[in-house]
Amino acid sequence: MFLKVAIALYNKQRMITDAKSEIEALRKTLRHHEYLYYVLDKPEITDAEYDQLMRKLQELEAAHPELITPDSPTQRVGGKPREGFVKVQHSTPMLSLDNALNEGEMRDFDRRVRQLLGGAPYRYVAELKLDGLSMAAHYREGLFVRAITRGDGIVGEDVTENARTIRSLPLRVSNGIPEFEVRGEVIMNRQAFERLNAERDQLGLSRFANPRNAAAGSIRVLEPQITASRRLHFYAYFLLINGEPAHESHWESLEALNRFGFKVNPHRRLCAGLEEVLDFYREWEGRREELPYEIDGIVVKIDSVAQQRQLGWTAKAPRWAIAFKYAARQAETVVEGIEVQVGRTGALTPVARLRPVEVGGVTVSRATLHNEDEIERLGLEIGDSVIIERSGDVIPKVVRVSSPGSPRQPFRMPSHCPVCGGKVVREEGEVASRCINTNCPARLKESILHFASRGVMDIDGMGEALVDQLVDRGLVKSLVDIYKLTASQLIPLERMGKKSAEKLLANIERSKQLPLPRVLSALGIRFVGERTAVLLAEAFGSLDAIAAADVETLQRAEEVGPKVAQSIYQFFREPRNIELVEGLRKAGLKFEHKVRKKKGPLQGLTFVLTGTLPTLTREEAKARIEAAGGKVAGSVSKLTDYVVAGEKAGSKLDKAKALGIKIIDEQQLLELTGERASS
Ligand code: IVH
Repeated sequence: MFLKVAIALYNKQRMITDAKSEIEALRKTLRHHEYLYYVLDKPEITDAEYDQLMRKLQELEAAHPELITPDSPTQRVGGKPREGFVKVQHSTPMLSLDNALNEGEMRDFDRRVRQLLGGAPYRYVAELKLDGLSMAAHYREGLFVRAITRGDGIVGEDVTENARTIRSLPLRVSNGIPEFEVRGEVIMNRQAFERLNAERDQLGLSRFANPRNAAAGSIRVLEPQITASRRLHFYAYFLLINGEPAHESHWESLEALNRFGFKVNPHRRLCAGLEEVLDFYREWEGRREELPYEIDGIVVKIDSVAQQRQLGWTAKAPRWAIAFKYAARQAETVVEGIEVQVGRTGALTPVARLRPVEVGGVTVSRATLHNEDEIERLGLEIGDSVIIERSGDVIPKVVRVSSPGSPRQPFRMPSHCPVCGGKVVREEGEVASRCINTNCPARLKESILHFASRGVMDIDGMGEALVDQLVDRGLVKSLVDIYKLTASQLIPLERMGKKSAEKLLANIERSKQLPLPRVLSALGIRFVGERTAVLLAEAFGSLDAIAAADVETLQRAEEVGPKVAQSIYQFFREPRNIELVEGLRKAGLKFEHKVRKKKGPLQGLTFVLTGTLPTLTREEAKARIEAAGGKVAGSVSKLTDYVVAGEKAGSKLDKAKALGIKIIDEQQLLELTGERASS
């Protein structure tokens, strides 16, 4: 008997040890490939291979939850949706930069520097000015522990969980420095930005004006899963220890950051003087288009930290650095025609056909006009001369009419779909006109592209050229048909071979494992984007529960109002969609959602807040309780575990006393969350 137990124990121990070393090995491999892919932009394995390794690690960790560590690559997306962000003060202010808008202003800056440094020699570091938002990432004992947005420069928001999803931000760094801070820019690449806006168009959501807003919006969403799907990047440009530069020269800091595994922009130059800075500026003005992201200028910094100190700061900005901006890229041309494109929801988008013109090194021949209202707002007619601008968009926009054409001709939305001839309808209160034929091939193609896209069902290889063929040859008549494709159907297609067909089928197969929120957003229900999909899945737990819910019940999910609820309700009452859902169920997609419980010291405990707490605002207290796994309720009941009472606590306190519920203060709360030692 004793021996049996001992052997069982031994075996268990051995399994754990094996799992531990396997987990460690997988993590090491994944980290290496993340670094190659996200930091060096030089992947050595395919996305699918990476996903496979990741899944393996996830499985092992699920079987051995005690072996999960916060720096594991699986922990980039873990957190639950949250209520708000805690405000945190920066170690030293994150100030902004003064701008130089032309060469003259840049020369003025240089003259001032020369004067203030009293004739001593100095060098500049010229970097690209990425158009994003700045963020501070804190590391302790080699682990990423916290990220704070710039905010107003003094106080920012704690966005740790969201920042964790940025793959180019290392979760651990072995540089032997006990505590350090890295500041840099969070950006979204142009392509990701385009994709996001296209998706938002389809959902009837407002567009992000530029990649910067999109990046800022993405780091501030409440669900880390959404931040993860937005594919942000972090470029490091300051290394601080105790709020001070870590090296005597800025250039050295950048090199150190690079060595530590951070993504540091390779397009930087150590310049002996102003002329070299101007060269760098001109060079990148011409080469901006080569970059996958937007830049709005260059940043010029004095290299020597001693000299930086000598120059000091004004109230707003350092005197040792300046942003040297590029002019907006605009051009004038003629609108030769207006064409109409049909999207996934049947929305018709007018697109201006332009007389080709060069804007910032790229020849532009089309510009989106979004919808009829936009055309009206611009007062645009066919034949007019217009000013177009390229900001983040690959597709440029029309800024204004510069001179009316003669002749000119007003645009009218067609009454029938240019693709299928179906009827076009613009409903009350809607900006978009839509083709109402649900079998319209244009709509089907768009739905497939949406379904297969990254961040939705992630079917790599299902691009536009292939989807055109699949629909035109009648191989895919509905989304369900994607799961019925066979190698013999695929191989004869253009630009398809045995190998790519097999790969595609494997990707399709793998998509079946994606969680319910993905499936929900893949369905293309109007107003149900990534965020709403997550909230719905969390609230209802299964697709069937969502499909069965009436409009009122649907509104119980967070952030689902009458309009969204109505759209969901209607979707699941449409026979075509019921058929689609059943088909996807048969194909084996995930219809259930495990509501993830966050572990923490307050797991399973419900709190009620009342009165004014000495240091925390109500939002902050709530965020901390939730971060520790607890729940915050609005009113006191038998189910309440603790009432946190501050000054001027009212009836909730009385009720808690009456029910005999534990009453604690802020200090005790912080002891419970583990943020403060008990006194
Ligand atoms: S240095 C006090 N370096 O531009 C130093 N900023 O207009 C301030 N930015 O708030 C930042 N690329 O968001 C620095 N290589 C770079 C940058 C950069 C983009 C942004 C940053 C900053 C803004 C100032």
